[in-house]
Amino acid sequence: MRIITRGAELRALSRRARQSGMTVGFVPTMGSLHQGHLALIRRARRENHRLAVSVFVNPLQFGPKEDYARYPRDEVRDVRLCRDAGCDWFFAPRARSLYPPGFSTTVSPGPLAERWEGAVRPGHFRGVATVVLKLLNLVEPDTLYLGQKDAQQASAIRAMVRDLDHPARVAVVPTVRDRDGLALSSRNVYLSADERRRAPGMIRGLREGRDLIRSGFRDPRTVLAKVRARIRDEARPDSIDYLALVDPATLESLGRIEGASLLIAAIRFGKTRLIDNLPVARPRSRRGRRG
Ligand code: PAJ
Repeated sequence: MRIITRGAELRALSRRARQSGMTVGFVPTMGSLHQGHLALIRRARRENHRLAVSVFVNPLQFGPKEDYARYPRDEVRDVRLCRDAGCDWFFAPRARSLYPPGFSTTVSPGPLAERWEGAVRPGHFRGVATVVLKLLNLVEPDTLYLGQKDAQQASAIRAMVRDLDHPARVAVVPTVRDRDGLALSSRNVYLSADERRRAPGMIRGLREGRDLIRSGFRDPRTVLAKVRARIRDEARPDSIDYLALVDPATLESLGRIEGASLLIAAIRFGKTRLIDNLPVARPRSRRGRRG
């Protein structure tokens, strides 16, 4: 595995590989790698001749009061995990080289990025879209691998790739969870022991919502009221930033459950925010509707 800090070097390697007929897969991360990241890395490894993983804590996607400075970093371990997973190119650019003095152009995702996470974290998806486009332009991969864990991010990046005619294919990998259901996240280390015990209440609430839809409920308000009560009871968060049932592509709230949908939630324990989501397939039968 080659450790690369200069974008030009990575681009040259990737171009050479693709010119000789190989495919290149790319997994962007902010490091502090866990089994969720590794699921993306393994899938990309299987599906491509060459694999690039980037580790870059992107200052542009953190708000002024957010955790950029204390975001967990462990590059030695990240290098080892990537090497063991068969990564070819470990890309760890410096912030100064991606954002040199005078850097000013950014990518503004549309209304999709202004709801939910975007409303709570203004400018977040502009930072994400900008860095992902820069990385795509350096790596020039055939396929970009993203996690369902960050469903809104995946939708915003899909839209950017489509709207700006980037040739990369986007693949979304299912969320990897701990045994008690909590979605793996680099931010889980911020939780106290007690918060960690309560946190799976969020996914248990979302699963209850999915079961209600499967059993015939069609009114999002009824479903969400029950999910909210369950999350309040079991996770007992300090607050629920949002809880919604949305269209999986546009992230718009649904008035009625007819096709495929997505349950999304963000909760707060003190300063720590946790997000999760659960895709719900289109309900099968119209019989047994319960409101
Ligand atoms: P990061 O939070 O490090 O996540 C990197 C990728 O791993 C994202 O696509 C994310 O959705 C995926 N991921 C994280 N936890 C996961 C889990 N439990 N199961 C499956 N996939 C998971 O997301 C970012 O970094 C950044 O915003 C980035 C896209 C790198 C741009 O800076």
